[in-house]
Amino acid sequence: MERTYIKDLVQKAGETVMIKGWVDVRRDQGKMVFFDFRDVTGYIQGVVLPSRAEVIEIAKTARPESVVAVEGIVNKRPERNVVADKQNGDIELEVTALTILNNAEPLPFEINVDTKEVGEDVRLAHRYLDLRSARMQTNIRMRDAVIHHIRGYLHNEKFIEVETPLLTKSTPEGARDYIVPARLYPGTFYALPQSPQQYKQLLMAAGVERYFQIAKCMRDEDTRGDRQPEFTQMDMEMSFVERDDVMALNEALLIDLVQTLFPDKRIQQIPFPRISYKDAMEKYGSDRPDIRENKEDPNLLAFCWVVDFPFFEATEKSDNPDATGSWTYTHNPFSRPIPEHMDNLMAKKDIGDILTTQYDIVLNGYEIGGGSIRNHTYEALAKVFEILGHDLEKIEENFGHMLSAFKLGTPPHGGIAWGLDRLLMLLLNEPNIREVIAFPKTGEGKDPMMQSPAPVSAKQLDELNIVLKKIEK
Ligand code: AMO
Repeated sequence: MERTYIKDLVQKAGETVMIKGWVDVRRDQGKMVFFDFRDVTGYIQGVVLPSRAEVIEIAKTARPESVVAVEGIVNKRPERNVVADKQNGDIELEVTALTILNNAEPLPFEINVDTKEVGEDVRLAHRYLDLRSARMQTNIRMRDAVIHHIRGYLHNEKFIEVETPLLTKSTPEGARDYIVPARLYPGTFYALPQSPQQYKQLLMAAGVERYFQIAKCMRDEDTRGDRQPEFTQMDMEMSFVERDDVMALNEALLIDLVQTLFPDKRIQQIPFPRISYKDAMEKYGSDRPDIRENKEDPNLLAFCWVVDFPFFEATEKSDNPDATGSWTYTHNPFSRPIPEHMDNLMAKKDIGDILTTQYDIVLNGYEIGGGSIRNHTYEALAKVFEILGHDLEKIEENFGHMLSAFKLGTPPHGGIAWGLDRLLMLLLNEPNIREVIAFPKTGEGKDPMMQSPAPVSAKQLDELNIVLKKIEK
């Protein structure tokens, strides 16, 4: 018999059907067994009547979360048993045959409740179970809906999605790199990208004009609620644009996304307010101000842009590993100063006062994205690295490819990257980004399901020409 989805059972009263899914709840009443069955489309109550002795026997062994194929007759419930406001509250399935496709042993934790209260190690060790819970199903499906919407919107705006490599070279984003030994070249390493920053700029040099990517980024930094070692950006770059063009497009996309997929949410202010870094620090003591007029309202979204950040800061104030001179960059070494400050950059004058074209997008006190217009000429980019204290040889070694591209016809360009996990966390009212990522790492950077990170074999190390230092256990 062909499978019927549970959501379609209402139209099948009186018919015999077959559903496939999970035992959500089993209530064994001795002579009769009641079930709540669940599939990807919803829930239905099932009942095995005393007259069906064979089915009762199987029903008694079908534990919660077992996968079953159920044949039955869709019956209207008697008036007194109708549960209003519940999916399929007016029908039930009279089970005529039950096949257990995969039985479930006693569960490590209940999943027909909110699993937020369950210990994280246990949840993540059995993430596939956790993901079956209603809230987590909503989260992964809404994540898909958001990504689908973004792709559609940007394609409509003439963007194309281009994948960029994961095995690459260290880029200066300010965090520590994850590195991968290169077997063929002993002693050398790839780095996993902290973002596709350099590639997306090189795509502008490649004439792509409008690029985006749902991009995996890796940063070896301490994990916290809004930070994972591996996270996802909605990354974009555009040619022949100024700051306002990038901001306007992203603002329109965010508004469209919220209004289409989260109609219960209210955006506090449109157009999004713009606050200078200086004002944000003076008024809110933070460069990601929470400007919500009512912090009790879970459906209020207070977006704002923060602009006019200083380009450089003195290194004493910074722990940036790339800084070798007395200045380091605050955001992105590839950014262009605001037009009024371009002359000062080229003259290396009043360096601490130079403002960058950087724009951060902030939502309810979280930085959910950031970007800038870039220095697209050789002279200007080289000047930034000079201020950062890199000598010419090091500039060539690290950024020779960017500088060459900038001498071979690269259009003016700029872009932005959203922290997609953070945006989803806020849209779904979750307390941390692990709730919106299918397979996240724990706060300690581990995956208890795969049990990673893990040692590798002596053979693997040998092939990679790696000898481990003695490690204290
Ligand atoms: P940035 O480093 O600001 O910019 O990153 C962009 C956005 O990514 C999110 N984010 C993170 N989310 C989860 N876990 C992390 N560890 C993490 N780190 C950052 C934040 C942040 O705003 N290449 C530039 C973008 C550009 O200039 O176009 C970049 O990566 O929400």
